[in-house]
Amino acid sequence: MSANAPLLEADDVTVSFPAGGGFFGLAKRKVRAVNGVSLTVRRGETLGIVGESGSGKSTLGRALLGLEPISSGHVTFDGIRISDGRRPALVTLRRRTAMVFQDPANSLNPRLTVNETLAEVLRVHAKVSRAGEAARVAELLSLVGLDPALGDRRPRSLSGGQCQRVGIARALAVEPDLVIADECIAALDVSIQGQIINLFLDLQERIGLTLVFIAHDLAIVRRLCDRVAVLYLGRVVEEGPTEAVFSAPRHPYTAALIAAIPEIDPDMVLPDAPMGGEPPSPMAMPKGCPFHPRCAFAENPCRTGAPPVLARRDNHGWACILAPGTLRSPSPTPARSQPLEISA
Ligand SMILES: Nc1ncnc2c1ncn2[C@@H]1O[C@H](COP(=O)(O)OP(=O)(O)O)[C@@H](O)[C@H]1O
Ligand SMILES: [Mg+2]
Repeated sequence: MSANAPLLEADDVTVSFPAGGGFFGLAKRKVRAVNGVSLTVRRGETLGIVGESGSGKSTLGRALLGLEPISSGHVTFDGIRISDGRRPALVTLRRRTAMVFQDPANSLNPRLTVNETLAEVLRVHAKVSRAGEAARVAELLSLVGLDPALGDRRPRSLSGGQCQRVGIARALAVEPDLVIADECIAALDVSIQGQIINLFLDLQERIGLTLVFIAHDLAIVRRLCDRVAVLYLGRVVEEGPTEAVFSAPRHPYTAALIAAIPEIDPDMVLPDAPMGGEPPSPMAMPKGCPFHPRCAFAENPCRTGAPPVLARRDNHGWACILAPGTLRSPSPTPARSQPLEISA
């Protein structure tokens, strides 16, 4: 298998939830939390998924690992179609992938010690002999920078950062080909965040880990990810090599997200209002381009035409009918007052 072969492919994946508000639970309305997403993750690559809270990142991450039923489309892992729900495909997925969740404390069993948590995974996946278990548990703890002496503790006597590392060690115990990490460092102190990022960078180097890194912190995504996909209202509005997307965004939403992140250039003055308008909700999908009500560059066709499809050039895709050069010209509409909400 070539090092660059796709490991994970999403083809036009949609995930709908009942919108509620109907009679006796017979509501026909559906909310498309993920709306026609196509993505490819190659072996050894790190793909960042970014977007505001509610844009569908977590739902997409779960759908990619078969943890959320998809309404239409297909997910393929290492050439095996997993989205038809057949057991052998799901067993393969469980053995070869792992998810790291945002909330470290709640994703660990409070009754088990760290050692027991990790040993359980090793046993379920028959990774080592009983005799080799303790050594492997200690090795996993060292791998994530934890003192193996912490192995006798339960989650409540660990810090948030320590719990998150145990969550990552548990994911790595599977020896996964693919990890999907959902905002796994958002709740941690900046110094611990740095340590976890370094751990991922190290694992990319040493074991060729393939990683889907869901985040709302663009500065971290820029450091860690080879490619980045930007979600807006459940759709990919831009996708491409990280540096290309950051240095020359082609979608106004990406441009506004990047402009709103002070870490990229701490001295940079934030634009008055990179975007105005209501925060997005898939319950109230606008006509035309879903981004047009908040877009400083919107023209008439953006309001009335079909939602733009992803155009591609140089391995870089974007879903906007305006010429990319448009984003560099000054905003044609007066800035509105509402700043962009980027917290998770
Ligand atoms: N289990 C669910 N039932 C109904 N709606 C949901 C469910 N999970 C997520 N949603 C909705 O789907 C949209 C996307 O949510 P989510 O994937 O959590 O976004 P993100 O991770 O980007 O914040 C939101 O509008 C959210 O309210
Ligand atoms: Mg989320």
